Amino acid sequence: MSKPLKLGIAGLGTVGTGLLQALDAHADRLAATLGREIRVAAVSARSRDKDRGVRLDGFRWVDDAVALASDREIDVFVELIGGEGGVAAEAVEAALRARKHVVTANKALLARHGVRLARLAEEHGVALNFEAAVAGGIPVIKTIREALLGNEIRRVYGILNGTCNYILTTMQKEGRPFAEVLKEAQARGYAEADPTFDIGGFDTAHKLSLLTSLAFGTEVAFDDIHVEGIEHIAPADIEAADDLGYRIKLLGVALRTPSGIEQRVHPAMVPKHSAIAEVSGVTNCVAIDGDFAGDLLLVGSGAGAKPTASAVASDIGDIARGLVLPPFLVPSGQLMPYVRAMLDRHQGAYYVRLTVYDRPGAMAAIASRMAEQEVSIESIVQRRPRSALPGIGARPVPGSLTPVVLITHETTEEAIRKALAAIERDGKVSETPQMIRIEKL
Ligand SMILES: NC(=O)c1ccc[n+]([C@@H]2O[C@H](COP(=O)([O-])OP(=O)(O)OC[C@H]3O[C@@H](n4cnc5c(N)ncnc54)[C@H](OP(=O)(O)O)[C@@H]3O)[C@@H](O)[C@H]2O)c1
Repeated sequence: MSKPLKLGIAGLGTVGTGLLQALDAHADRLAATLGREIRVAAVSARSRDKDRGVRLDGFRWVDDAVALASDREIDVFVELIGGEGGVAAEAVEAALRARKHVVTANKALLARHGVRLARLAEEHGVALNFEAAVAGGIPVIKTIREALLGNEIRRVYGILNGTCNYILTTMQKEGRPFAEVLKEAQARGYAEADPTFDIGGFDTAHKLSLLTSLAFGTEVAFDDIHVEGIEHIAPADIEAADDLGYRIKLLGVALRTPSGIEQRVHPAMVPKHSAIAEVSGVTNCVAIDGDFAGDLLLVGSGAGAKPTASAVASDIGDIARGLVLPPFLVPSGQLMPYVRAMLDRHQGAYYVRLTVYDRPGAMAAIASRMAEQEVSIESIVQRRPRSALPGIGARPVPGSLTPVVLITHETTEEAIRKALAAIERDGKVSETPQMIRIEKL
C-alpha cells in the first residue's frame, strides 16, 4: 500500500463535519479502493470549543486556516469555509503556492477567481478540484470533464438551487403565495435568514458560471450572466402554467449560439410532463446536451452534509489515485475568451400575464402592440375577472381588471420587451406585465 494521503481540513460546519463522518465511515473501503489510507492530519475552524457532533481529538488543531494551507505535514488542503474572498481565498492561494492539492466546495470563490486559481494550480503542478461546488452530490463536473470528453456540448442547464425549487414546488402543490412559503422554508431550515442570495438567483449563477466554463472551454464569466430571481412569481402564474401544461422552475441555462454564449438564470416554463418538471422539492438536476451522447439528465441532492461530503470525498479520491486534471477541462491558458450572446437576440416563446383595464378597445390595442413587433400569439385566455380596487368602500370605482394570459409563438426577447413596454405606456394595464420564458427542451 502507498503512503497515506494526508488532509488538512479548514471549515468544520455542515460540509466539514459531513466529510469527517464519510471518511470515518468508509475508511477501510477507501483505503482498499485507492490503495492508500486517507488520513486527516489537521483541522481548522473558528471556534475550537464548539460541539460539532464529531470526534476531533485524533486531529491536530490549527487556529489559522491560512497557516494550515501550507502546513508541511499535509498533501491536500480541503477548503470548506466558504465566501468569495477573505480567509477562504487567502488559504486556497497559499495552499496552491505551497504545492498542496486543493479540494473546495466554494462556488463563490471559483465564480470570481476560478481561472486565476486554476492557473496557479497548473503552474504548481497540483489539483484544484471542486465537484461539490456545483449541484452538491450530483457528479456533474466529473461527468463533463471525463465521461463526456467525446462530445461537443450544445447546452447545459438545470435546477441548481434547492431553496428555490422547494418554494416553487410548494407554491404549485399548495397554491400558496411566495412570501408565505418562503417563511415556512426558513423555519424548516431550507432557506437562509437572508434568502436574497438563493431566491435572487445568484447562487444558481455562481454554479452556472462554472458549468459554462467546463462545458464550453471558455473563461468563467459570472458577471455576464443575466440573473432574475423567483420573488415576482405569483400564484396566478403557477396556476396559469398548470392549466397551460407547464411547471415553473428556476433554471440556470448556458447555450452555444452563433453569436456567442447565452448564460441566463430565471424562472422558466417547462412542459409539465418533462423529466425536469418532475424534479421537485429541494432536489437538483443538471441536463447536458452532447452531440454524441444525446441528452442526459442527472438528478440528485444539491446540498446537505452527506451529498456534499460525497462529492468532496470523490475529489480527494482522484488525488489519491494521482489524477490531476486542468481544473476547467482545458489548461487555463487555452480557455477561450468568453463571448456573450446578447439576451435581446434570445429566441423563444413567452408566457405573458397582463392585468388589463376592462375597457372597450383594450384587447385590440394590446394585440396591435404585439403585431407592431411581429410577435404572434399562440393562445390568449382571459382569466377570472376581479374587482379593480377591492377594499375601497366609500366611492365605488367604475371598471374592473381582467387578468389576461397569453402565450406567444417563437419571437425575440427584444420584440417581446418592446411590445410589453408599449402596452404599459399605453395605460391599458394596471401593473407591469409578467413575462416568463418558455424553455425549449
Ligand atoms: N451546506 C451545503 O449543503 C453546501 C453544499 C454545497 C457547497 N457548499 C459550500 O461548502 C462550503 C462550506 O459550507 P457549509 O455549509 O459547511 O458552511 P458552514 O456550516 O457555515 O461552515 C463553515 C465553517 O467554516 C468555519 N470558518 C469560518 N471562518 C473561518 C476562519 N476564518 N477560519 C477557519 N474556519 C472558519 C466555521 O467555523 P465555526 O464552526 O467555528 O464557526 C465553520 O466550521 C461553502 O463554500 C458552501 O458554499 C455547501
